[in-house]
Order: sequence, then structure tokens, then C-alpha cells
Amino acid sequence: MTESRLPSSFLFGAATAAFQIEGANHEDGRTDSIWDVFCRVDGAVINGDDGSVACDHYHRYPQDVALMKSLGLDAYRFSVSWPRVRPGHGAVNATGVAFYDSLVDELLGAGIDPWLTLYHWDLPQELEDAGGWANRDTAYRFAEYALTVHEALGDRVQRWTTLNEPWCAAFLGYAAGAHAPGRQEPEAAVAAAHHLMLGHGLAVEALRSADPSLQLGITLNLSVIDPLGPGDEDVARLIDGQHNRIFLDPILRGSYPQDVLDDLIHVWPAGLVREGDLATISAPIDFLGVNYYHGEAVSLQPAAPREASEAPTTRPTSTPFVVSDGVFFHSRNLARTAMDWEVQPEGLTRLLTRLHEEYPVPLYVTENGAAYDDVVSEDGAVHDENRIDFLEKHLDAVADAIDQGADVRGYFYWSLLDNFEWAWGYAKRFGIVRVDYDTLERTPKDSALRYAQLIAASR
Ligand code: FCB
Repeated sequence: MTESRLPSSFLFGAATAAFQIEGANHEDGRTDSIWDVFCRVDGAVINGDDGSVACDHYHRYPQDVALMKSLGLDAYRFSVSWPRVRPGHGAVNATGVAFYDSLVDELLGAGIDPWLTLYHWDLPQELEDAGGWANRDTAYRFAEYALTVHEALGDRVQRWTTLNEPWCAAFLGYAAGAHAPGRQEPEAAVAAAHHLMLGHGLAVEALRSADPSLQLGITLNLSVIDPLGPGDEDVARLIDGQHNRIFLDPILRGSYPQDVLDDLIHVWPAGLVREGDLATISAPIDFLGVNYYHGEAVSLQPAAPREASEAPTTRPTSTPFVVSDGVFFHSRNLARTAMDWEVQPEGLTRLLTRLHEEYPVPLYVTENGAAYDDVVSEDGAVHDENRIDFLEKHLDAVADAIDQGADVRGYFYWSLLDNFEWAWGYAKRFGIVRVDYDTLERTPKDSALRYAQLIAASR
């Protein structure tokens, strides 16, 4: 049983992100982020949804915190909206800060540890207009913003995550164009990846010197990339390099992997890495946040055409892997979620044990979860057996990794609430709590109740 396998000190939480749940995007001085602007691009987001109301968490946070308390969560991972706290990266917006001030107090009052992420993709549009993450200057602005948030909340928040998933911010945002700011410029994507990491390192240095007792980390979306068959080892290495090691190595070892530099030579901007950058990027961190959803099987052999799944956007996008010509991503005989993502819990065990061996640092699973096409039953409940199964299997996979020696200290389900799923808008539901987008009513699904039981049983 999962409940008896995880240590009693294990931390259980749930995660969200500002743009996906807050709403109130034009209230109290907040200005546009790149996601507000991207949502206005024709066909960028399915159904033309935008995040301007989302789950209305901005006004309903006391109710949401009460929900978390009723589930027995130890910790809540949320992000701060940069353009709410410093609209346009200008002066500090006291009203915007006050929201997070109250949220943190509410959490602490409920006995829930606030896990704060500084950047979950909502760059102030003004900084994008100046070049965005492809512009080195943005890294310095990020460290300034980090200190602003720390000045307001540093007396109560111990856990700080600089960035969520720089891979998505850089490669989906600047190479594929599937995420804001919707650019398709491979060199800008590589520059963005480097500058995001530089911003991370500068923020770690700044926060560390403001208060050496803080617990600082970064969250990466990592994957297990398997060769489909003999002869596919090199393409697996290529994709592993551009997905995992391009971030893991600079941050945890202080250098870019040579094979990745070789692979990307034609898209690597001249003069990108300056003296001292890698020392800053590899400033020591206290934990690594791991977001895991599924793995990939890659091959030089073409994949059999799959039944087309609903395209997330109507705009043409290109590949996020800037060098992947001739690489084919294969599906396996595995169950799939509503995102069409394979359900592959054993991949999480392998990922965590690999990280423990190759990049030793305390690990937290900061996101893992599944979207399903939930049905509201006549009794008003959501009997989401598929999500319960997903949750239990992945908690088991974490327990397996711990049994094999990996230093994994906590797990955050993605997500607490159904919410705005980026290019998919409101069409994909990841929550353990259902949100009715007409009434904004919250209903814990069966998965929330099961998660609460698992948490209680592990005490
Ligand atoms: C991750 C994001 C998160 C959510 C999940 C499904 O890549 O960090 O915001 O969209 O995927």
C-alpha cells in the first residue's frame, strides 16, 4: 500500500500557478503579461479562451485555502504574478503585493507551508517588448523582482523556487511558438534558455545574501527519453541533451554538456555565455523541483501515423527541439490521459533515481498529474477513478525511487483546481477539485478525497 511506503516526514502538497487560477488580470494595477497578450492572438489558445477570470482565485483564495486545509495538505505551491507585483516591471504595486501577503497569512493560519515560485511564465509584456528572455537584461530584471517579492514575504516564506520549467518558457515560447510569446526563432530560444538560467542564478545569489536561511531551488520539467530500439541510442542522447541536460548540467555542475554544445552549434548565438555566467548559474541550491508527466520513446525510424488528436492550437507551431531533424517520437502501448500523454509511472522512478545518482541534491516532485474528461454524476460528484489510479501509481513510483535510495522528500499534485491549461484554455481539467466555469463553484473530486485519505494514513 502506498500509504505505508512513504516516510512519515514526506511532504504532501498541491500546485497551481498565478496565470492559471487568479483571474483579476485587469484589476488593482496589474498590467499585461505575455500570456494576456498571447491569448489575444487569433488561434493561439483553443476556444479563444483567455485567463482574465480563470478560477477567480484572486477573490476566492480564503475558500481555496480552506479546501486545502480540509484535504490535509502540508504545503501549497503557488506562483507570484510579476506584472501584479511590479506592473510593467516598474514601481512596486502595493495592492498587488497585498494579495500575496494575505494569501501567505491565510496559508500559515491554516498550517500550510507556502512554497513560492517566482516565475511561472507570466513575464511583463513590457520586458518582452524589449526582447523578452532572448535579451540578457531580462535576467537582471528578474533578480530585482525576486528581491521585491522577498522584501514583502521573506519574513514568512522559507521555500523559494526561482523558475518553473525554463524548458517550456524558452523552447515552447521562443522556438515552437506554441506558448507565449509565440516566437519561432531557434537562436532566441537558446538565448532565452541561457538567460532564464542566468536569472535563476542571479536571483539565488540575491536571495541568499538577503537571508542565508532561505531554502532555494528551481523546478525543471524532466523526462525519460528511451531509444525505441537498437541503433536509436544517439537520438535518445540528442533529445535527452535538449530536454534534460541542457538545464541540469549548468545548474548542478556548472557547465554545458559538450555534446549539447556540439549539437546546437548552428543555433548557438555568438557571445551568449559570458565570463562568470556559469558560476552564477550553478550557485548552490537546496533542492531541485521535478515536474514529471511522461517519457518519450525516440527513433530514427518513422512512427506509424497515429490517429490525429485534437490540435492544441490552430496556429502553425514548429518543433521545440531546435535540432531534431530525423528524430521520430513513437507511441507505446500505454494508457493515455486526455492530453494524449502516456501514463508511465515507472519513468518517474527511473528519473528520480537517475537524478539522485548523477545530480545529487534533495528532490521534490513539484508537479505530476493527469487531465481527464471528467463527468459530473447525478449525485453531483466526480468519480474520477482514472485520476485516482494515476495518483496512486505515481506515489508508488516515488516510493520505489526512495526504496532504491533516491532522496525524494515530497510530492505536489498538479493541480489543486481545474484551471487555464495554457494553449488548451479551459478544455483540459487537471484538478483534484472541479471548477464549474459558469458559477466558479468548487467541488472536490473523488481523487481529492482519496488524496486526503492517503495523506492522513501516512501520518
Ligand atoms: C506543466 C506546467 C503547468 C501545467 C502542467 C500540466 O508543464 O508547469 O503549468 O500546465 O504542465
